[in-house]
Parts: sequence; structure tokens; C-alpha cells
Amino acid sequence: MNTYREPDIHWNRVTRILHWIIGLLIVGMGLVGLFMTQMDPSMAKLKVYALHKSCGIIVLVLVALRLLWRLAHRAPPPVPQPRWQRIAAQAMHGLLYVLMFAIPLAGWLYNSAANFPLQWFGLVQIPSIWPADPQVKHLAHALHEYGFWALMALVALHAAAAIKHHFIDKDETLRRMLPGLPPPSGDAP
Ligand code: HEM
Ligand code: HEM
Repeated sequence: MNTYREPDIHWNRVTRILHWIIGLLIVGMGLVGLFMTQMDPSMAKLKVYALHKSCGIIVLVLVALRLLWRLAHRAPPPVPQPRWQRIAAQAMHGLLYVLMFAIPLAGWLYNSAANFPLQWFGLVQIPSIWPADPQVKHLAHALHEYGFWALMALVALHAAAAIKHHFIDKDETLRRMLPGLPPPSGDAP
């Protein structure tokens, strides 16, 4: 029987995998979003819009699963660091979660208030969450777009902090969030 258990100092494997998959998906979704709005009107543009929305719903579901998983499992204790850094990191993580939800939800709200169709990969009709409303449409659009830029700015700080921990403080902060972390020596497998 496999008796290996991840040591408490590391993030569990599911958290680590979801962290990087969701990070890549969000950046990819943002790039596609910025690119598609610049396309000339065409069938291809409509297809990319539909794809962006369907994939965005997947990201929203993954973020919800991630939060549920996170709430059900204890986080590893923070690596030794000044109190203000620990509090700053917690506040940053909270903000990142808020934006990870707010951006796709604002996209869905925008799509609903604009009275656009929403069919998940052409298979399932996704319900509208708001009646047609030009003001809400405008607001949700702003939240969707500027929310993305705000997230990118915060992620830059977040990544800079992780890199500082790794190269300057030389601690485990970054390593314990990497997906391919080997088990500690002496432990199976
Ligand atoms: C994490 C997921 C998502 C990210 C990071 C994201 C990001 C973006 C970005 C950066 C834009 C370009 C904004 C602009 O320049 O106007 C955009 C456009 C758009 N997004 Fe998303 N999006 C996500 C999910 C969704 C979802 C779930 C929907 C709807 C169900 C959606 C609907 C739209 C629509 C309709 C546009 C076009 C807006 C326009 O024509 O001006 N997005 N998205
Ligand atoms: C869209 C991109 C990203 C998002 C949304 C994001 C979000 C998060 C969140 C919410 C956490 C807290 C863990 C949790 O409670 O689930 C976290 C932890 C972490 N992230 Fe990111 N992250 C992103 C990109 C990055 C990048 C690019 C790096 C490194 C270069 C990074 C390194 C880390 C590290 C090392 C931790 C663990 C911190 C600790 O142990 O205290 N993240 N991330």
C-alpha cells in the first residue's frame, strides 16, 4: 500500500495543480478577450466570442472547485517571515480570489444585460443572470475589462513576491507551490 503523505509544509497536489492551470487559463482568456474585440466583424469573430464565453464558464467552475477544495483542506503554515509580510500575502490571496470570481461573473453579467446568447459549446443553454439593461451592461463591461487589468497588476506583485522569496530569502515559498515537487527523500514513492 502506498503510505506516502505530503508533508504539511507543502501545498497539497490538487491545490498546486489547480493554481497553475487556473493561472494559465486566466491569462489565456484575457489575451483572447483583448484580441477578439479587435477583430473585424466576421463569422470567425462570432466563433471566438462563443469559445471565450464557454471557456470562461469552465474557468468559473474551476475557481469555485478550487475555493471549495481550499476551504476543505488546511493551508501549510507560512514560512518564517515578518508579520506584515504574512498579512500582506493573506490580503493578496483574498483579493486574487475575489477577482478570479468577479471577472468571469462580470462577463456573464455583461452578456446577460446585453441580451447576447450564451450556449455552452453549442450544447447547453446557460441562463441569463440579468434582464437586458444598458446601464448594467456598461458597468459589467467595465468590471470585466478593468478587473482583468487589476488582476494582472496584482499577479505581477504576487509573482515578484514569490520570486523574491525564492532567490533572496531562499525559502520554500515558491517550491512548495510548484506542481512537480518530488516527495521528500526517504519517503515512498
Ligand atoms: C476568467 C475568465 C475570463 C477572463 C480573464 C476574461 C477576460 C476578458 C477580456 C480581457 C476581455 C476584453 C475586454 C475588452 O477589451 O473589451 C473580454 C471580453 C469579453 N468577455 Fe471575457 N473573460 C473571462 C470570462 C468571460 C465569461 C465567462 C464571459 C461570458 C459568459 C465573457 C464574456 C466576454 C465578452 C462578451 C467580451 C467582449 C466584450 C466586448 O465586445 O467589448 N468573458 N474578456
Ligand atoms: C493568474 C495568476 C495567478 C493567480 C490568480 C494566483 C493566485 C494565488 C492564490 C489565490 C494563492 C493562495 C493559495 C490559495 O489559497 O489557494 C496563491 C499562492 C501562491 N502563488 Fe499564485 N497566482 C497566480 C500566479 C502565480 C505566479 C505567476 C507565481 C510565481 C511566479 C505564483 C506563486 C505562488 C506561490 C509561491 C504561492 C504560495 C504562497 C504561500 O505559500 O504563501 N502565483 N496564488
